[in-house]
Amino acid sequence: MSDFITELKLFSNRFNDKLPALFEFVSGQEKRVAEAMFYSLANGGKRLRPFLVMKTAEIFGVDFEKSFITAAALECLHTYSLIHDDLPAMDNDDLRRGKPTCHKKFDEATAILAGDGLLTFAFDLISGEKNPLDDKIKCLLVQKLAKAAGAFGGMVAGQMLDLYMENCGSVDSPENVIRHIEEMKTGCLLKFACEAGAILGNADEEKYQALLLYSRKIGIAFQITDDILDVEGDEIQMGKTLGKDALQDKLTFVGLYGLDKAKQMAQQLIDEAKNVLAIFGDNAKVLCELADFIVSRKH
Ligand code: IPE
Ligand code: IPE
Ligand code: MG
Ligand code: MG
Ligand code: MG
Repeated sequence: MSDFITELKLFSNRFNDKLPALFEFVSGQEKRVAEAMFYSLANGGKRLRPFLVMKTAEIFGVDFEKSFITAAALECLHTYSLIHDDLPAMDNDDLRRGKPTCHKKFDEATAILAGDGLLTFAFDLISGEKNPLDDKIKCLLVQKLAKAAGAFGGMVAGQMLDLYMENCGSVDSPENVIRHIEEMKTGCLLKFACEAGAILGNADEEKYQALLLYSRKIGIAFQITDDILDVEGDEIQMGKTLGKDALQDKLTFVGLYGLDKAKQMAQQLIDEAKNVLAIFGDNAKVLCELADFIVSRKH
């Protein structure tokens, strides 16, 4: 195992161990929705987004405990996006993180509500008293996360275009449209991860902008790689059903240019992302490794 994979694994073990405590208050009638939320949240995910929050913040000396709640909130929100993405009305998937999808394990109504529950819980966590940050910072994070996840230039907007491309009225080239979709549906949450780390670390403007640029590049590369893995990945390793993008006529770089060109594009974005990090010197070593992992991953 490479040092980076080991570090990510150690991080996700530590992160996973702290998740149950976030649900400790749940009682009585809330148990069903909480069970469905926790079912999808626990285990299986790579935890890349929380890792990115924490490793970005760490550049500025912010420790795990200080960034944990913000990182956990982002993972809750990401998990909601997966639960809804898998619903029959969206991508209609049976398998997620190596287990039956939330609506298969429970039922559709429960999965919709579990998604809603995780989405709102994310904001509850960030703004709540368990989060050891100043109120002003919490407020800024709430605003940034709402934008990143939302319908106006955020994840929801990307998901909408992913499903109903033909209604977007775009006069742009297919390449620009795909880039836009990938940037919104996937890139925005990865961008928030870095932005949150920079906010937690009180980064100066130059460093803040560098991290934003890095995150935008790895965000697109992440989705291009997801689309590549949809064609040539291993279903067991990926923990989800593959080969679906072509079947569902999704607009992807792989569909437009083929695997080789898509791989080249992803690699170029990763090279650019790593160059952007030069101003951090050795302090950004893990973020450089994370960028490499995004295109070399098998899951
Ligand atoms: C899957 O994200 C959905 C996309 C945005 C492509 P991940 O590949 O990070 O999924 P998990 O969190 O590891 O399950
Ligand atoms: C999902 O993109 C993006 C979000 C969940 C926001 P995909 O539909 O390609 O993700 P997978 O392949 O189902 O994980
Ligand atoms: Mg989808
Ligand atoms: Mg999907
Ligand atoms: Mg996919």
